[in-house]
Amino acid sequence: MCGISAVVGQKNIVPILFESIKNLEYRGYDSCGMAVIHEGKLAWRKNTGGVDEVNKKEHLTGMQGRTGIAHTRWATHGRVDALNAHPHLSSDGLFAIVHNGIFNNYQALRQELEAKGIVFLSQTDTEVLAHLIGLAFQEFGQVEPALLAALERVEGTYAVALTTPLEPERLYAVRKGSPLVLGFGEGIQFAASDVNAFLPYTRSALFMDDGEYAVLTHDSWQVRRMADSTPVEKSPVHIEWDAETSRKGGYSHYMLKEIFDQPLTITNAMNIPRQEIISLVEMIRQAGTTYLVGVGTTYYVAMVGQYLCSQLAGRYIPVVSSDEFYELGVVAPGDLVIALSQSGETYDTRMAVQFAKDRKAHTACIVNVMGSTLSRMVDQVIMQGSGPEICVVSTKAAIAQMVILMRAAMELGLSEGHLTEESYRDIHKALGEFPQVLQKTLNELSGFVRNLAEKAEDYQNWLFMGRGIYYPIAMEAALKMKEVTYLHVEGLPAGFLKHGTLAMVDSRMASLFFIPPPESRELHKQTLAALEEVKARSGPVFGLMFQGDTQSAQVLDHYVELPQVPAAMAPFMELVVAQVFSYFSALRLGRSIDKPRNLAKSVTVG
Ligand code: G6P
Repeated sequence: MCGISAVVGQKNIVPILFESIKNLEYRGYDSCGMAVIHEGKLAWRKNTGGVDEVNKKEHLTGMQGRTGIAHTRWATHGRVDALNAHPHLSSDGLFAIVHNGIFNNYQALRQELEAKGIVFLSQTDTEVLAHLIGLAFQEFGQVEPALLAALERVEGTYAVALTTPLEPERLYAVRKGSPLVLGFGEGIQFAASDVNAFLPYTRSALFMDDGEYAVLTHDSWQVRRMADSTPVEKSPVHIEWDAETSRKGGYSHYMLKEIFDQPLTITNAMNIPRQEIISLVEMIRQAGTTYLVGVGTTYYVAMVGQYLCSQLAGRYIPVVSSDEFYELGVVAPGDLVIALSQSGETYDTRMAVQFAKDRKAHTACIVNVMGSTLSRMVDQVIMQGSGPEICVVSTKAAIAQMVILMRAAMELGLSEGHLTEESYRDIHKALGEFPQVLQKTLNELSGFVRNLAEKAEDYQNWLFMGRGIYYPIAMEAALKMKEVTYLHVEGLPAGFLKHGTLAMVDSRMASLFFIPPPESRELHKQTLAALEEVKARSGPVFGLMFQGDTQSAQVLDHYVELPQVPAAMAPFMELVVAQVFSYFSALRLGRSIDKPRNLAKSVTVG
């Protein structure tokens, strides 16, 4: 799981290549490197750390050249060190490659190459391909056939970019199973893991498919088939996102910016034409079993969707974490699998969809990244239109998916006679008004949430709890808190507490309760019952609650009081406030908020 970028231009491209890899840093950030062709020679620099850190160590921006490749790494094969950083070179020093993905058969190939006397400098799977290209070149005497012959030897998933002083004005980029997109500017061409790499320079992009490679010069491009080198007819598309929306825009972190983007993201999700939602619902109605799959945040989004379908449509929909789908899913022809993914590239979720396709089930997805692999695998796509999400932890993309699932549950309920026209209209109205209320809440309450985070700073261990739909909300909030604070945070259903977890509660185990508005009577009562159980064991109790809830105010040690909203919006409101809570908690702890340790935004490996 990594980011790759390749640039060929008329002038020195190094500053642009550097910026492009910086724009992909969220894909992995434990080491990085660049290789460029300068005056007919290959020059490369690489080291451990984020892009700026490596630039300080290696002065990447001091290089020069008109053709180059770059890489930012999230280690899978081989520890994080300078030798394992990309690019990797063939032993003759003529070929440099960067790679995202995994070559499954690299160990056997490595043994074979070592037996031929090749000396390996790294522990990576990638270096195998660099040497294979070098050896194939000795045989074929030409770059393109050598690249293709070498690729025939490797198995697995990959996106690879290649540069060589043998063809100093030309770049090669190959895709099989890992994302790769081309960008076409004025006198400059790009190949990268995603469009964020080159958005400041062009919005004209072309999404490559598996089994294709591109040959780029500063003023030409061609996509060819790996199988027989024949050209593939493809047209570029215009990317709607602009570079500005990918910037921080005055916020100290992308996470905070993206939390504050949420009113707009919700509006965008509401603007998806009703017909698109109805088409998805029709698929559900015609299907045998419908599954919702996602992983990480999108798994919890799917759980929220599950509660919504039960409540609004009277339909139980199984939810499976994508990584477990292979073991758990019982999929037959005519079933439907709906995948949720921000990036549309997550390996586990792609595999879950592939599993469904192999069993002749129908597939759909809700996804944020246009042209992403998942969006091209399924029968129906709903583009959520949330704009680029840069912070590794997902906020705005998740809420948009929840809103879309709510809309789907409403349509399902209406069409199956489970939801009255009147209730449909009420929820629709509440959704329409919600962005404005949320905006106001974010503006006015963030200071209070920061104070809550201050009161919370002494606690290293947390339980986040809710009942009903507040349970997946608590789970997602706990995941946010883990990701950005690195603290021990467990999400659990509040009703489950007394069945075991209560044993952990003492004065050092803090709890955060997601309390529904008092009008959700039963749920409110049950949540408070769990709260009392914690309090009776001297556990400090924090809470998110709504105005007018005097009962909760009396028992909570610390709380934030939220403005009253229609009951259907209350869980979303609490989730957003919990995101802000995680943000300020991480800020106090001095964490790397936009790029938490050990994580990567889209995990494209299994
Ligand atoms: C990774 C990220 C998570 C994300 C998950 C699913 O694990 O670290 O933050 O929720 O992938 O990503 P997706 O792009 O499929 O929504």
